[in-house]
Amino acid sequence: MRCRIVGAPVQDGAGRMGCEMGPSALRTAGLAEVLSGLGHTVEDMGAVQAIPARRVVHGNLALKALPEVSAWTSAIAAAAYAASKDAMPIFLGGDHSISAGTVSGLARRATETGRPLFVLWLDAHPDFHTLDTTASGNLHGVPLAYASGQPGFSGYFPDLPAAVDPKHICTMGLRSVDPAERSALNQAGVTVHDMRAIDEHGIAPLLRAFLARVSAEGGLLHVSLDVDFLDPSIAPAVGTTVPGGATFREAHLVMEMLSDSGLVSSLDLVELNPFLDERGRTATLMVDLTASLMGRRIMDRPTRSHSGS
Ligand code: ARG
Ligand code: MN
Ligand code: MN
Ligand code: MN
Repeated sequence: MRCRIVGAPVQDGAGRMGCEMGPSALRTAGLAEVLSGLGHTVEDMGAVQAIPARRVVHGNLALKALPEVSAWTSAIAAAAYAASKDAMPIFLGGDHSISAGTVSGLARRATETGRPLFVLWLDAHPDFHTLDTTASGNLHGVPLAYASGQPGFSGYFPDLPAAVDPKHICTMGLRSVDPAERSALNQAGVTVHDMRAIDEHGIAPLLRAFLARVSAEGGLLHVSLDVDFLDPSIAPAVGTTVPGGATFREAHLVMEMLSDSGLVSSLDLVELNPFLDERGRTATLMVDLTASLMGRRIMDRPTRSHSGS
């Protein structure tokens, strides 16, 4: 596989500083070397360049850094569109606001290829606020709503070239959902597998069902991995820890199943705040999870279709 690493050193969308260092920590943890070790071709595109922010004023006075995040979204969308031509882009955040750009740029690319874009959102949070409903004002809480065409972004964020169909979105790992997000998710028809569902059914059958839908529709699949999907005991380097997250085993299983599916066409690694890490363990875990997604295995496994008995 041809992989393109794209740095998106954005921290304006989070409530605290530090995510700007995320791409650097992921590179230091050996991302490119791990990918080439698995036999992939790796091109490091460096960092997306911020474009100057223009004045934007909104009625929700809680909003933080709206001009900056809007400008980043334009730049990242253009970079995502370009990097997804004949390659698999891996975006290094940066806080989760970068996904407003990555997902919208990838949706534009998908439209051109004539295949529907599906999104797997691995996160403690749905990030499904609009500019009107966010109370914290932190714009890492809005990217999924923006990219799926929820109302109220027009004139403040870049015009969407193509929206992702909310029915093509699956969120897994949720355990912190604000009331406005809950009703908006239900109304839009987003598939939500919260931690309760994962506890009750196990993560594998839930993921398998979603992958079957992607495959049946001939879709492209973007995976957006927020560090806080993981339990804080194994991934402390994030500003928005929530107890009770995915375990080490669950997270690797998700990545291995995604790898087996052959459906993944792009990846975000977001919300890593290296200032909060312990000797790089979270950055290393994110790189190891990427390795599982890109083909690292404990042992070879017989493929289902060939297992005779
Ligand atoms: N829903 C909360 C908010 O709007 C938390 C969002 C956390 N998002 C994230 N990407 N870490 O502030
Ligand atoms: Mn998030
Ligand atoms: Mn989160
Ligand atoms: Mn469909």
